[in-house]
Amino acid sequence: MRRSGARRDRTPLRRGFRFLPGLGMGRSRRFAGALALLAAASAGPASAQGDAKRGEYLAKAGGCVACHTEERKDAVRFAGGRALKTPFGTFYGPNITPHADAGIGRWTEADFVRAMREGRRPDGASYFPAFPYPSYTLITDADLRDLWAYLRTLPPSDKASRAHDLDFPFGWRFLVAAWQWLYFTPGPFAPDPQARPAVNRGAYLVRALGHCGECHTPRNALGALDRDRHLGGGTGPDGKRVPNLTPARLKEWSDEDLKYFLTSGLTPDGDVAAETMGEVIRNTTGELTPADLDALVAYLRSVPAVPEPPR
Ligand code: HEC
Ligand code: HEC
Repeated sequence: MRRSGARRDRTPLRRGFRFLPGLGMGRSRRFAGALALLAAASAGPASAQGDAKRGEYLAKAGGCVACHTEERKDAVRFAGGRALKTPFGTFYGPNITPHADAGIGRWTEADFVRAMREGRRPDGASYFPAFPYPSYTLITDADLRDLWAYLRTLPPSDKASRAHDLDFPFGWRFLVAAWQWLYFTPGPFAPDPQARPAVNRGAYLVRALGHCGECHTPRNALGALDRDRHLGGGTGPDGKRVPNLTPARLKEWSDEDLKYFLTSGLTPDGDVAAETMGEVIRNTTGELTPADLDALVAYLRSVPAVPEPPR
């Protein structure tokens, strides 16, 4: 299941080295070749294309498959149809395969970046935040490019996306524009210069890709996350309470306990994680490289403790 050695940042230069011709060249010619390559890499076009293999890993770290795949054994992955029940009604994850009519086959990379970063459709309308773009907005440009490259490699499915079934007046998409204006700040993740690189990597995995706060952070009445109680315990899609992930609660778990839970779904007491989290473990945390899992845990250790809310 686990893959080792996935790299966080692949510079165009390193990527280019795989194509470096003439491995048997003398040292000086090789050096000249490397310089030429450096010039070519900084000129741009070589780095414009996303890396689909890396994108596949990022899609796991982002848990995309869950909401965009029906809950059936033989469901086509990413072809949509998953019902997402919320207090506002039921959303259906759309088909995001490259099918021209049923999926997003006619989209450009810029359309995809706008959807993820700004929560906007190609026609400018706002997406409902049931699509966790308030977290995905933090994904870096390079990672969005790689995710896009991966989505392009999926087999196109002609399964039509299903219309959402929302309670009045939540179905009015233009109201979401007001919601975005109130609660949504687009923009990529900014590392904390005071924090260790591993903690920053963990912060990125938790807050941007893993969107852990979408369930583990409390929300206000209009469904916006309460940033002052980041990871302080929230409400799951089923309306059940979701535990606090800050040191206020997790201090009783060792790093090994946490990593065991996040890969096996078993708590230190031997309980099995409820299915909502079980799915996150199967799709996301259980698929992370050991280094990324360590980083994720290091970040959880570093967040401010939020007291457990009264029951
Ligand atoms: C928690 C559920 C959830 C997760 C996880 C999720 N999505 Fe979505 N996504 C949705 C919903 C719901 C919509 C439709 C929103 C709307 O109609 O306003 C959507 C819409 C989209 C769209 C626009 C599709 C269209 O036809 O307009 C894209 C692209 C997309 N998601 C990509 C992703 C990617 C990439 C990931 C992983 C990084 C991801 N999603 C993870 C729920 C999710
Ligand atoms: C779709 C909602 C959802 C998302 C997203 C989610 N979780 Fe959870 N998580 C839950 C639920 C529900 C539980 C409680 C499971 C149980 O009671 O068995 C839980 C439990 C946990 C626990 C055990 C805590 C305890 O005290 O029992 C940890 C650790 C955890 N999640 C970490 C994460 C991390 C890290 C992420 C992001 C990569 C994440 N979760 C994303 C819903 C979610």
